Amino acid sequence: MAHKKESALDRFIKKLTKATPIEQESEIKLDHDFDGIEELNNPLPPWWSMGFLITVIIAIFYIAYYWVMGKDSQYVEYERELAAAKAQIEKYKKEHGVVDENTVVLLTDENALAEGKAIFDKNCAACHLPDGGGSIGPNLTDKNWIYGCDIKSLFKVIHDGTSKGMPPWKSLGGDKIQKVASYVLVKLQGTTPANPKAPEGEVCEVK
Ligand code: HEC
Repeated sequence: MAHKKESALDRFIKKLTKATPIEQESEIKLDHDFDGIEELNNPLPPWWSMGFLITVIIAIFYIAYYWVMGKDSQYVEYERELAAAKAQIEKYKKEHGVVDENTVVLLTDENALAEGKAIFDKNCAACHLPDGGGSIGPNLTDKNWIYGCDIKSLFKVIHDGTSKGMPPWKSLGGDKIQKVASYVLVKLQGTTPANPKAPEGEVCEVK
């Protein structure tokens, strides 16, 4: 027989499939014939049996690890990592004082208020005037407040801005917003500015 030379790849594929060559197929033909469709008695291809064996071995380790030794499943691991991450965030907030709408409190410490004044003069005075009397923005010294006069309301307005011309200041970060809001409530509210703008909003008693 004139054989064409068998390449390494051919030999490899043969090893993986163990299929009987076409010339010898008549030897492994089974007796049944389904409307002309014939069946060959080829062995299971080794690549397939190997794959099966590997899954069986993995399953043994899997069962041993999760059921017998009772190690944490992916869900338990996820919950645990989530809880750890949340705890880290809380810890960070405690240490670095990252303030948000829910944790903001009125500061009365003079250093913090002085910082608040610096932030106000730099970022807010253009619209609210340095003495808070108001120009483009409303008067911040009177008892009238459009969005409420508690520290949380001020924090929210300053952080988010409004659709009527108050820009959002979230880029300042929670700490600075807390300071500037405290400055507005403690130092500006209740003073008499040079040119007070007419009151806007509801009367709100600053505590
Ligand atoms: C570009 C002009 C502008 C700048 C800058 C600005 N504001 Fe305002 N601010 C406004 C306007 C306009 C309003 C009224 C918004 C409205 O009625 O919705 C306002 C509203 C407010 C209010 C709510 C007042 C109320 O009656 O409820 C507070 C508090 C406030 N500003 C604080 C600040 C602080 C603090 C800064 C600086 C970080 C600042 N603003 C910077 C224009 C400005």
